[in-house]
Amino acid sequence: MAAPITTRGEEPQDAAALRSAMVHALRERGAIVSEPVAAAMTAVPRHLFVPERPPAEAYDADNALPVKHDARGAATSTVSAPCIHATMLEQAGIEPGMRVLEIGSGGYNAALLAELVGDGGRVVSADIDPDIVRRARDLLEATGYDRVEVVEADAEHGVPDGAPYDRIIVTAGAWNIPPAWIRQLTENGRLVVPLRLKGLTRVVAFDRVGETLVGRDYRLAAFVPMQGAGAHSERLVPLDEGVMLCVDDEALKFDVEELRAALRGPRVERWSGAAFDLPDELELFLMTGSPRTALLHADEKLIRQGRFAPSAAGWVPALIADGGIAYRVKRTNEETGGFETGVFAHGPAAETLAERYVELLRRWAHRHRRHGAARIRYLPGGVDAPAEAEEPSGGLIPKRHGVVEVTWS
Ligand SMILES: C[S@@+](CC[C@H](N)C(=O)[O-])C[C@H]1O[C@@H](n2cnc3c(N)ncnc32)[C@H](O)[C@@H]1O
Repeated sequence: MAAPITTRGEEPQDAAALRSAMVHALRERGAIVSEPVAAAMTAVPRHLFVPERPPAEAYDADNALPVKHDARGAATSTVSAPCIHATMLEQAGIEPGMRVLEIGSGGYNAALLAELVGDGGRVVSADIDPDIVRRARDLLEATGYDRVEVVEADAEHGVPDGAPYDRIIVTAGAWNIPPAWIRQLTENGRLVVPLRLKGLTRVVAFDRVGETLVGRDYRLAAFVPMQGAGAHSERLVPLDEGVMLCVDDEALKFDVEELRAALRGPRVERWSGAAFDLPDELELFLMTGSPRTALLHADEKLIRQGRFAPSAAGWVPALIADGGIAYRVKRTNEETGGFETGVFAHGPAAETLAERYVELLRRWAHRHRRHGAARIRYLPGGVDAPAEAEEPSGGLIPKRHGVVEVTWS
């Protein structure tokens, strides 16, 4: 995995032009909105942080570049895509003189952070993988950013030596929020973290308010998973050949045989009359706005056979109750030329389940259909679940050290 290190002086002629085109593209799409982030992304020679790749690949705004893989070929470390860096830096609101902890090192983002905090600030970057630490350190040194401190550490414990931090920026997908992250933030500090919420990832910018974290905004993104003490995988439950459930909610109880039989049986089809758009927001609403949800996937073959709707090709939010399962579908709305949401439901109580799902689709379309309608808070230690609730409400998502509360405005 040794990277051929290139120093700053040897920049290919086209690199500056590619960089400027990347910054222009990121401004156009709204990923860069502030001058300091634009200036940092114009200054840092990204291609030198991925020396194995041609500069044109390095400066592709959407390109995440894998650096290391596990034995099964899955990436364990990447240099994230420029659009993700820009988005997270804007969410973080970094100012000169700040102390920043980056969790997950690649070198590039740490260099951007160093530009943003300036000589009066401090950047500490931590990675659990010694190969990545070495690589990031070498690349930062070669590019003149050796004032960034790169340390080998498991993020679960933060990096107490440099604390408190004004900002903690996590660049691996986290299911947990370890107490150390809150403890190591300044009183008004901000944590930007790709948080796993019922199988979905949203990068949430949280402000620390006392011991609570209050979300200010959230964005869609994908990240390599967190390793170490905070590692966590959602349960993957095979329901039938080519059919899988991804279950995050430990309390969600169901009978696999019953669900398999339900899915092999007839279905009830209902349409909501509501438009299908902003799919990412709808997906988050369906998963977090209701209890008893999991993500359903079916292979292409089953979809071609007509046993499942095309929406199940990815992971589609499914409602599970009374021995049955319901999931979102869509069809063309001839009048508007757009799409309408609907539901396929299977099982003994399919009618009732379909009605419940359609009600959710309508509620979202009529009350919450816009970007950023979710309010996300993190409450360490958790809150008491209502006495009558057998299972946690969809709005309260239990985590190892607390709960995430998602409400919709
Ligand atoms: C997406 S990469 C980091 C990208 C980087 N910030 C950049 O400049 O593009 C995620 C990194 O998180 C690291 N990581 C995963 N789990 C970790 C943990 N528990 N503690 C620290 N680092 C971790 C991985 O080794 C990997 O290098």
